[in-house]
Amino acid sequence: MTDQYAVFGNPVAHSKSPEMHLAFARETAQDIHYTKQLVEEGQFEQAVKDFQARGGKGLNITVPFKLRAFEIADQKTERAAKAQAANTLIFQEDGQILADNTDGFGLVQDIATIHQWPIKDKNILILGAGGAVQGIIAPLLKENPTSIKIFNRTYSKALAIAEYFNNNKLEAIETLDNKSVDLIINGTSASLTGHSLNLPASLLHENTCCYDMMYGKDLTPFLQWAKGNNISQLADGLGMLVNQGAEAFRLWRNVMPDAKPVIAQLRAGLNQ
Ligand code: ATR
Repeated sequence: MTDQYAVFGNPVAHSKSPEMHLAFARETAQDIHYTKQLVEEGQFEQAVKDFQARGGKGLNITVPFKLRAFEIADQKTERAAKAQAANTLIFQEDGQILADNTDGFGLVQDIATIHQWPIKDKNILILGAGGAVQGIIAPLLKENPTSIKIFNRTYSKALAIAEYFNNNKLEAIETLDNKSVDLIINGTSASLTGHSLNLPASLLHENTCCYDMMYGKDLTPFLQWAKGNNISQLADGLGMLVNQGAEAFRLWRNVMPDAKPVIAQLRAGLNQ
């Protein structure tokens, strides 16, 4: 039987994961079946067990189940443990569930390899302090930036993340000062609700890179703000999505697909 995979989420209708993983499978000549499954809030754990019992080999997990996916697992990678959340489950031969988190890997891979924006020795500002931000801190710190500041609408959440990682390069800030930074990563969900973040242009210098973990057909409000301030190094989170997916695919199939053509394919789909 063809190996079965799926993405679980709620909502999940707009997930690009099936198209993405089928593109990886074509690229690497792997025979897989991949579906998306809308899971009711109360039924996540049962749905995972059912999928496993039907012979499923692995799952991607999206909003709002990443924390529960982490908790349900028998084994957890260090990446998942640091993020306290899982976006990838691997069903092992002995029936154990292994949880990993490839989101941070996907972000760093997209920034450093696809866009070739350096992280080492750079000053980084992260906007937001939700689950998505929790998952990117450790992989960013590993790249040896000079500093990472976290700014969030609710300061206490930024502080909690800084305390959790307890690293002298990482600091929660209560207000945005006038110092420019080299890389800004928007990890808030503000653009989903069409809110702008009211950021001062003083955060930017000529070569500041601006990355939004969200993506869409049009530039996100954060990237529009950066563009309006003459920033040319702009990127949205489509590449993060594809790179986290490529890493999940590698964990399942033991072969790393090339993310670039699949980013281009999904981008073309967004613009249709
Ligand atoms: P996710 O799992 O995607 O990170 P989340 O945990 O709900 O989702 O976190 C959303 C983040 O976006 C939070 O940092 C949130 O700020 P608060 O902690 O103050 O709620 C941030 N956010 C959402 N809407 C925002 C807005 N309009 N302006 C600023 N920040 C916003």
